[in-house]
Amino acid sequence: MTGLRASRIGGPGPIEVGGTGAGYDVARVREDFPILRRQVRGRPLVYLDNAATTQKPQAVIDALGGYYSGINSNVHRGVHQLSELATEAFEAARETVRAYFNASAVEEIIFTRNATEGINLVAATFGRANVGEGDEVLISAMEHHSNIVPWQMLCEASGARLRVAPIDDRGELILEEFERLLGPRTTLVAVSHMSNALGTVNPVEEIVAIASRRGVPVLLDGSQAAYHMPVDVQALGCDFYVATGHKLYGPTGIGVLYGRRARLEAMPPYMGGGDMIASVTFEKSTWNVLPYKFEAGTPNIAGAVGLAAALDYVTAVGLDVIGAHEQDLLAYGTSALEQMEGVRLIGTARRKASVLSFVMEGIHPHDIGTIVDREGVAIRTGHHCAQPVMDRFGVPATARASLAMYNTREEIDTLVRALERVRDVFK
Ligand code: ALA
Repeated sequence: MTGLRASRIGGPGPIEVGGTGAGYDVARVREDFPILRRQVRGRPLVYLDNAATTQKPQAVIDALGGYYSGINSNVHRGVHQLSELATEAFEAARETVRAYFNASAVEEIIFTRNATEGINLVAATFGRANVGEGDEVLISAMEHHSNIVPWQMLCEASGARLRVAPIDDRGELILEEFERLLGPRTTLVAVSHMSNALGTVNPVEEIVAIASRRGVPVLLDGSQAAYHMPVDVQALGCDFYVATGHKLYGPTGIGVLYGRRARLEAMPPYMGGGDMIASVTFEKSTWNVLPYKFEAGTPNIAGAVGLAAALDYVTAVGLDVIGAHEQDLLAYGTSALEQMEGVRLIGTARRKASVLSFVMEGIHPHDIGTIVDREGVAIRTGHHCAQPVMDRFGVPATARASLAMYNTREEIDTLVRALERVRDVFK
């Protein structure tokens, strides 16, 4: 096990960077991300597509390699030493996740493939047990498809109704409307902690408080928030919280569902298979205890180990300083884009993080993406898996630059120069 979760940063200590004044050395952090040293299109990579997926620090890459070269085996099954070591590493990863989200017990942490699977799990199990004809599921108008479609499928199957709380022109949830839509038949509220398309950070504490007063459970989709700000599920008081590893600087194919123990206990299992059972006969099977009841089949063991390394890394750098650095970049980028003629920001919420979504007059976002790519700048263009958000703002798509801990003001300058080139091409 030695070295498995070893991190190269080993506590970076207080370090300085211009701009944030928060004792954060972005150059030092960048050294930990080998991909940032590469070039694309003959230019230094400027990676601004972090809302789609983040890059991985060496500690995560080493953890994956260390797992496969040192202890690879199946978990919860073997009596041999490798199986014991793999099981230990997997369960240690669960404890790391628990601590990261401050859940009260490891039994409340379910490993999934991604946030989407976490939401589908809740829709399929909590939904199957609790949502019936005439009931309502309340979401918001800023959700991405992962937090819309599973509820639509549930509503179609059960005869329930999907209600959608509107957002205003800034991209903020209209809380009074949300409260008004929370009716006697609302069985579940499911909202994003932070919007991937707009950057809006929702007032989740208030959302949970409002729903709790009516006894309605809340699922928070932390796909975006969990790598920008500390998340304390106990303080939030939510019933479910989902996150995905690959946005948390960890591997793809591993995600997390936090569920309040009493809720999880009361829910039927999700998929059937190995590990989720206590006993099987042809007549009847019985279910394993938490969290295994929801983890059928061989899990993504290496992914969990890699995710733990990522969370250790993020924790060592510090989410507070990461957040402060990203807020500095967001303010810098917002001001730069606001000054550009013909550029319109989509999503101007007062509480916002790390996302600059924008359109340029007369230029399709895909053209923007293609031209800035020639300058080495990676952004996402399209509907960002949030078509209803695009509809709300009357645009088919946006260009989106999204920020992470390793981005710099200089990279935003490069983006702005690349956008000036885009404008020149279309003059
Ligand atoms: N939901 C991810 C994004 O916003 C994939 O790009």
